[in-house]
Amino acid sequence: MKRDFLHITDLTTDEIHHVLDLSAEVKTRIRTDKDYQPFKGQSLAMIFAKPSARTRLSFETGFFLLGGHAIYLGPSDIDIGKREAVKDIARVVSRYNHMIMARLFAHDHIIEMATYADKPVINGLTDYNHPCQVMADIFTIQEHRGNLKDLKIVYLGDGNNVVNSWLRLAMRLPFHFVCACPENYEPDAETVRAAVSEGLSEIEIMHDPKTAVKDADVVYTDVWASMGQKHEAKEREKHFQEYQVNDALMASTGRQTLFLHCLPAERGREVTDSVMESPASVVFDEAENRMHVQNAIMLAITGRI
Ligand code: CP
Ligand code: NVA
Repeated sequence: MKRDFLHITDLTTDEIHHVLDLSAEVKTRIRTDKDYQPFKGQSLAMIFAKPSARTRLSFETGFFLLGGHAIYLGPSDIDIGKREAVKDIARVVSRYNHMIMARLFAHDHIIEMATYADKPVINGLTDYNHPCQVMADIFTIQEHRGNLKDLKIVYLGDGNNVVNSWLRLAMRLPFHFVCACPENYEPDAETVRAAVSEGLSEIEIMHDPKTAVKDADVVYTDVWASMGQKHEAKEREKHFQEYQVNDALMASTGRQTLFLHCLPAERGREVTDSVMESPASVVFDEAENRMHVQNAIMLAITGRI
């Protein structure tokens, strides 16, 4: 049976640890072993309904380095759900390609795509979540800290797709997760309830950024207006000012704290230049790790390792 990766919770706890171990292994191996070509002769279709730099670069380069060929389909190539039904394109792509990575608006569309495709489907971001990103984030945190013990991760800003993936990770790995956001910008209520009732991690959703960052091992932020919401940017900016990650906020954690951002960053809005360029910032390691972790995910769900 084919395996998809649409949510972090599609993997068990053991599988998540396996992917993290594998990410480190593959990260070294693609540099040292030119004969390592597990996807030789295979093609990956990359379907994008939204813009992307990192997701396209990391999947295309990663699949190429593992011996395969990746094909980019941009927003106007398919015009999913309008020019062509999801269930039709899912079956067409499956006839040509060995794997599908899709970045779509509606989360229902990626579920439908996985239902109709007979090849593995990987979620490259939807309005609901961004599982590859958060797998790369936790790998980056593990690399920098050496372990994931007693971790307090504080997310500041919009309760968006990235936050929903953090909540799903909190259902598989134990950590203390705090999301501090303005009222009415909380993460998906059903996902919060599920993460809390899982009882594995401590979950807090609050509105005071200063209280939130106390003792944080990691401070994380993302844009205040996601793709598809850019027309709301001006209005959102009014509500988010106190959630900006700046030097004063980073200094108030009382710990040595890492700064992460999925990127692209809107410098001067959700994060200052000085935090982006500070020694605490691991954002470029995080961006690089997208490729290594996704390579591991593709290998794991296709049973290659
Ligand atoms: N972080 C991330 O997914 O970046 P892109 O939108 O550039 O792919
Ligand atoms: N929340 C952002 C993430 C971009 C990688 C968005 O959806 O636009």
